[in-house]
Amino acid sequence: MNIINEKISLISECSSEDLRIERSRLCCDIEESTLEGSAFIRTQLKGAGFVENDIRGAGFLQCDLSGASLEKCDLTGAAIVNCRLDGMTIDGVSVHEMMDFYKNNHKENKTMNKATRKAIIAGNWKMNKTRPEAKALLDELKGMVADVKSVEIVACVPFTNLETALAATEGTNIRIGAENCHFEKSGAFTGEISADMLAEMGVEYVVLGHSERRQYFAETDETVNKRTKAALAAGLKPIVCVGELLWERECNITEEVIARQIKLDFFGIEADDLKKCVIAYEPVWAIGTGKTATADQAEEVCAFIRATLAKLYGADVAEAITIQYGGSMNAANAAELVSKKNVDGGLIGGASLKAADFTTIIKAAENG
Ligand code: 13P
Repeated sequence: MNIINEKISLISECSSEDLRIERSRLCCDIEESTLEGSAFIRTQLKGAGFVENDIRGAGFLQCDLSGASLEKCDLTGAAIVNCRLDGMTIDGVSVHEMMDFYKNNHKENKTMNKATRKAIIAGNWKMNKTRPEAKALLDELKGMVADVKSVEIVACVPFTNLETALAATEGTNIRIGAENCHFEKSGAFTGEISADMLAEMGVEYVVLGHSERRQYFAETDETVNKRTKAALAAGLKPIVCVGELLWERECNITEEVIARQIKLDFFGIEADDLKKCVIAYEPVWAIGTGKTATADQAEEVCAFIRATLAKLYGADVAEAITIQYGGSMNAANAAELVSKKNVDGGLIGGASLKAADFTTIIKAAENG
């Protein structure tokens, strides 16, 4: 039955499974009726009372339901979309109050999960900055972020800048990291730096398995795994990078690639040690390209990483791990990225070289 452009003043003991009421005005009570699967579209239902109706699967679209009341109705599967709801009640409970309660709880759940983890914003300076430039950048940054408490701030700098960076940030809330370390403790490895050498200086973090190292320096999951173990043994906190190539994403094997990297990079690492690690999801196609993954793409893969960890180590361990996003993250897109449930911060390249931009990202994570 279709009722269009009608003024209806009473519906009682009606049984209409295909009732469609459109652009009508119902200044009435609807009692003991079966309106299962009915559609109310752009209908004026202001102050209407629905009592003991079967409204299963019904749809209310762009209706004015303000002041309407539903009492003892079966609303299973019913949908109310884009309707005015002020003053509407269901079994005496205000719909607005219900929605506020839901929104607050939803937010709480989201932040509760995040609150169990530390948000970490780390800069990866790559091969940039001389020592005077490093000091100038950190001196500027430390003033700008001095009041930040809820986010761990890390600057991962070239080996030559470590001593300068440690001195410049002493007593501040900025931690210092290196950009790589070798897996052997010492020996004939010309040009390499061991984890112990970093730890002895006071370095806390180390980036491992960055795609640039995988791409240009023949880094493999096996050597990333060895380096991660060496870093942990030295007391460093590894930031282990994983991420798919554009070609792999286009071939729809992102999850396979990521699962493989997670399994291999952390092979033989116990849960207690894993908890000291940070994982950075850096889609290779987004690094330095200005092409950021959308917040949903970042969330999808970060959630997948967490699910993979849950299978390997259990949900509690997986929930405790900080998973960052990295790849063209900047002052403009950071807030949306870090607002995602499984994105616990960022590993930032280019934008970490500008104190103001890096600060904006840090502040976004404080609110994320
Ligand atoms: P960009 O932020 O410059 O894209 O670099 C990301 C990155 O590689 C961080 O490790």
